[in-house]
Amino acid sequence: MDDLFVSRSQETLAKDTSVVPEFWQQKYRSDASRNWDRFYHHNTTNFFKNRHWTDRVFEELRPGHLFSEEKPILLEIGCGVGNFVWPVLERNPDIFIYACDFSKRAIEFVKQNEGYAQKRCQAFVCDITKDRLADTIPPHSVDIVSAIFVFSALPPEKQAAAIANIVEILKPGGRILFRDYGIYDIAQLRFKSGHKLENNLYVRQDGTLAYYFSKERLHELFVQHGGLVELDNDYVISRLKNFKKNIDVERVFTQARFQAPIDSGLLEKAMTNTQITIPAATSGETDGCGIIDMAMDMK
Ligand SMILES: C[S@@+](CC[C@H](N)C(=O)[O-])C[C@H]1O[C@@H](n2cnc3c(N)ncnc32)[C@H](O)[C@@H]1O
Repeated sequence: MDDLFVSRSQETLAKDTSVVPEFWQQKYRSDASRNWDRFYHHNTTNFFKNRHWTDRVFEELRPGHLFSEEKPILLEIGCGVGNFVWPVLERNPDIFIYACDFSKRAIEFVKQNEGYAQKRCQAFVCDITKDRLADTIPPHSVDIVSAIFVFSALPPEKQAAAIANIVEILKPGGRILFRDYGIYDIAQLRFKSGHKLENNLYVRQDGTLAYYFSKERLHELFVQHGGLVELDNDYVISRLKNFKKNIDVERVFTQARFQAPIDSGLLEKAMTNTQITIPAATSGETDGCGIIDMAMDMK
């Protein structure tokens, strides 16, 4: 990000001094899963397109990649209706995919998809901030966890709990593939006053939350709290131009890969380092994606 872009963005954000009142802050946080469920009620499977680009940006998703085990196991957290899952299943005949989401409706759509074959995938309802993944998936059994536009749906105070939850099912040496919204993304800069809950956290029209990540925040969460090793962590900036609609804007994403320590002793230490307790399973809240960001994700 160049200095001029950063200072202009900071100027724009500094103009919005109001925050959503406390009652509504709590409401958006506690109604998260309901709001996402409503999102899938309205949009069904039509909002996102299948994410065919993921193997271009994450080499781990290419068949025969040397990281892959003979039968690699992947977990997609916040899978929605499976737009990440289907292309990966198609390209990798030997992979097994767990897919979870806290929207019941989204998981029903996944199970109804013609690509859903029980020998190759298992979809289940789970709030990654409070339902133990290890109740469904054997501990330390997963090679890859994909987190594609899901952490932005979590309020910051719950993000570390989600990481602790993932670390419990990740194999020693297993990897987390992360892609999400970055700070100063055009969608963040365009929020009107009255949508900000706290720095970098906003609520969209449909009640879903949108958090915008800095590289530093990712490092703090995954490395300092999560005890993981950072393989890469950077911004991806892409220019979105549409002459007909007179659009010429910059999208900012964060893209990163983290790895669980290969030494299982260190992995146990990483888990205790997080000092996060995940209460016994009950299903809860959700996060959402708003139209501006969503439209962008569809590419
Ligand atoms: C933008 S969508 C991304 C869907 C999918 N990863 C993809 O790439 O198409 C975010 C998803 O995260 C889910 N989600 C948000 N918070 C969650 C939580 N705490 N636990 C599980 N899923 C969550 C939402 O229900 C939604 O389906």
